[in-house]
Order: sequence, then structure tokens, then C-alpha cells
Amino acid sequence: MDTTELRSRGWFGRDGKDGFIYRAWMKKQGIPMHLFDGRPVIGICNTWSELTPCNSHFRELAQSVKNGIYEAGGFPVEFPVMSLGETLLKPTAMLYRNLASMDVEESIRANPLDGVVLLCGCDKTTPSLVMGACSVDIPTIVVSGGPMLTGKYHGAEISTSDLWRFSEEQRTGLIDQQEFFNIEAGMCRSSGHCGVMGTASTMACMVEALGLSLPGNAAIPAPDARRKVLAHLSGIRIVEMVKENLRLSDILTREAFENAIMTNTAVGGSTNFVIHLLAIAGRIGVPLSLQEFNQIGEKIPLLANLQPSGKYFMEDFYYAGGLPALLKELLTHLHSSCITVNGKTIMENYANAVCYNEEVISTLAQPVNPIAGVVVLKGNLCEDGAVIKPSAASMHLLQHTGKAIVFEDMDDYKRRIDVPDLEVDENSILVLKHVGPKGYPGMPEVGNMGLPTKLLEKGVTDMVRISDGRMSGTGFGTVVLHVSPEAALGGTFAIVQDGDLITLDVFNQLLQLNVSDEDIALRKSKLAPFVSSCDRGYVSLYQNTVEQAHLGADLSFLKGGSGSLVTKDSH
Ligand code: FES
Repeated sequence: MDTTELRSRGWFGRDGKDGFIYRAWMKKQGIPMHLFDGRPVIGICNTWSELTPCNSHFRELAQSVKNGIYEAGGFPVEFPVMSLGETLLKPTAMLYRNLASMDVEESIRANPLDGVVLLCGCDKTTPSLVMGACSVDIPTIVVSGGPMLTGKYHGAEISTSDLWRFSEEQRTGLIDQQEFFNIEAGMCRSSGHCGVMGTASTMACMVEALGLSLPGNAAIPAPDARRKVLAHLSGIRIVEMVKENLRLSDILTREAFENAIMTNTAVGGSTNFVIHLLAIAGRIGVPLSLQEFNQIGEKIPLLANLQPSGKYFMEDFYYAGGLPALLKELLTHLHSSCITVNGKTIMENYANAVCYNEEVISTLAQPVNPIAGVVVLKGNLCEDGAVIKPSAASMHLLQHTGKAIVFEDMDDYKRRIDVPDLEVDENSILVLKHVGPKGYPGMPEVGNMGLPTKLLEKGVTDMVRISDGRMSGTGFGTVVLHVSPEAALGGTFAIVQDGDLITLDVFNQLLQLNVSDEDIALRKSKLAPFVSSCDRGYVSLYQNTVEQAHLGADLSFLKGGSGSLVTKDSH
């Protein structure tokens, strides 16, 4: 590429007053003149924040990226964007995914950047950064922060998926509050994101399978020095990508999205993968529908024996060969000619990968579980679809008919779940409404709602649960999620009543309300139209423009991209 064509020359290559202003204020940071000589200017988009503990090591990671950029003859410029800490943000980090993506998009476009490195970690920081970058479409590479080390407690290995078990043990009095405190400290003992195949690790696998990161990115633990090496190498590579003008739209083809879906099935990835991948496809302009997920992933079994679908942790996954070993096993199914950020194909990157432990990364011939992936359900209870992750569900509940116990919203659930005379047994189906994108708003991770204490005490460990919300990628259970249209928009889900019979048949991809069409129509006719609960600020914008889960829950006006051209110039 002719360096006079670089975007950054529109700032730093200027003469006169304009060039003076663009360069002089940068020089106050100690930047010497030769860095303005036409070398690629690379943004390092950093989601470091002490309020996002999973990304708290990103300043060090950014330094490794910078070292690589300098080594390759580039000019690194680190900048912050809104960071989304999954555990602290209220009402839910998902409410802000689209807002953060706007920050990323506008920050990249408005600044003199020729390429960008996205530092992603905790759940929403990956999709928000990738979505924003897609809408600009300059050369981009992703560096994930890596999972934390496996937790240790009383000689046992623990991680985030155990949280749900410990929580129920505390509710039933099996462990006391002091033990709870001690478990917290043992679980989160290093930097990095959740150490199981939760949403953050799912997103790290997604970007690698899409071809947006260097091979091996998905699983190197955050404190492992090899994570910094990968960051350094990514810094070198982004400079080359700018010279090759290798952009996101060159990598994110329809086939790359299909690779990501197959990979997600094989790793047992989070249900959140579906919603984020649909949103990313919407930004880069690749047609992809929710219903296609079944067909694309149907031949792929579960290969990774990782919690919450299996037994092991992300640290084990890395030592067993990580995503490269798994992708090598999948090569016969993948579109192996897809190009990736290092300029090589999936085949070239992974054909020689080695699996060091088949107990952790199994083979197609002897998979961990033939039942895998995220199944998209259809039926009158979810006119536009719903999802379930069967590998994290109970086999005996995958075909089940039961009476609905309906909670109209989270407050109703909290108020009544442990009321002694609640007529519930292990065959009941718990229905939670108004936790969808518009209704909550923000679609929180409450879909794997806790079971009634009186059933826990009887030894019940799972029940069918259905909601228009989401579930943590670390969660498990027979949990139907993302029901679309959500209750707030008046689909059939809105009119389910206590005692209605519901049929879940995962093998036939069915979610059915066993109520006559006439009764459904009558009940729907009495529903009030949706009214936004907020009349100002971002939440109002979100409630009025967010799309339904089956479309990726992006804001309608953010779909697609605006490119990297800045047409107006104030100086
Ligand atoms: Fe950040 Fe799990 S809370 S990855």
C-alpha cells in the first residue's frame, strides 16, 4: 500500500495550520517527529477498567501490543472506550453493549487511525468492540484477555459454573456465609475472565473461529506469559495488515460465520453467542438468520469437555492444545479456505495443531456428547424463535410437558418463588416474563432462575424454565431463553397463564403452548400496547429502537456500517 493513502495522513500529513494542530498537541506526550513520517497509526482500543475486573490486566497487555507495533514500524496510540463489567453493571451489562459499540465505532472513525487492535475480555466487551469496528471496517485484530486460572478451594478445583451450586447450598443451609466468603476468594484468584466455557471464553473462541485473532488466542490463561507474546505478535501483525489493507469485511464472510457456529457447537459455547453473532453479522452486512443455526451446527458434536457442559476448565483446555487442537479435529466440517488476520487460511493455521489430552478435547469419532450446540426452537409459544443449550440441560427434561407457573416479572418471581403454598413440583415449568430487551429493559441473565427452596430440599436439581431473558454462559439447566417476541411486545409468550400446559421437545425443536388458537387470540386482544418505561437518555433510546433477540438485539439504526471516511473537516 502507498502510505500516502493512509487515513492518518489526512491528519498528520497536512501542511500549514491544520498539520501544526494535529501534530503539536500529540507532541506534548513526548512523541518525536519521525513517528509522523507516514508509518501506520494503530489504535489500541482498551477496555481496561477497575470496574471490569476481568479486564484489569489490560494496561500490561496494551504495552505488549505497543511493543509489537513499534517493532513493526508502526505508531501505537492507546485509547479507552466504555468498558462493560459483567458483574457490577446494573441493571445488566447487555443494556450497554450497543452503547459501547457506538463509542467504539465513533472513536475509531473520528480519529487518525489506520488499523486497530481490540482488547476484549469480559463478556460484552468482545461483541461491543467487534460490532463497533465492523461498522467502520478498517484493518482490525482482536486480542482477548484470556481466562483466569482455575479456582482452588479445599483441595477442589472450582470456577464460575460452581457459583450456582454454591448459591443453592447456601440457600438450603448446607454452607454458611463465612464459607461463602472463603469460596469467593478461592474462585477468583488471578487476572482474567471466567475460567469455564462461559460467555467470555465463548466470545474468545468466536473471534478466533471467525479469523479475527491470531491462532491460539482463545484459551491462553491471562497470567500466562504466552498471552503477552500473543499480544506482541498481534501488534506486529496489525501493521502488516494495514499495509495489505486486510479489512474486517475481507475476513468476515458468510463462511466465516458458519465456521463460528460450528465451532461454538463443538466447544459447548454460551447461548449468548447466538445473540452476539447475529448482531455482528448485521453490522458487517452478512445475511444470517436465527433459524439457520440448527442446520449449520447439526452435524457437529460436543468435542470440548469443559464446564458448564462438561468437566474441565479453560486452563485445562489450553494445556490440551486449546482451540487450535479442536479446530484441527473440525477441519473436515469447516470452510477451511477462509482467510484469517494473519493472512493464512484456517487450513494453514490449524492443520498441524496437536491435541495433548483427548479427555479434554475429544474426537469426532468419540465425542464428549453427540448432543451439542444451541438448539433453536419453534412453535406457537415463540413465534420468532427461542434457544436452549441441550448439552447443559437434563436429558430427562428435553422432552417434557408440564403445567406453567407464571411469574410476570423478576419482582413477582422474587416475591413468590419461596411462598410455601406455591403449587409447584418438579414437573412444573417455571415461566418468567418481561425480562426481554424492551421489557426489562436490557435482557438480563436471569433465565436460569433458582428453583423453589422446598424442591431443592427434596433433592430436585433441575426443572424446565422458560423466559424472554438470557442466561449466563456459565449457567446450566433445562433453560429455554430468548423467547421472541418478548412478553412486552405481546406475542403468545405474553399471554401464558398459571396452569397452561407447555410442551418442550428439543429433539423436534418445538416449544408449544397447548391452548387453542381461539383462546390465544382472545387473550392477546386484551393486552395493552408496549409503553417505554423511560422518557429520557440512553435507556429511552434503547427501549424505543432495540430489536428482538432473534435479530441480535442491536439498535435498529446501528445495523450496517458507515465506513471510515470522514467527510467534514473543521480546521
Ligand atoms: Fe467477566 Fe465472567 S464476569 S467473564
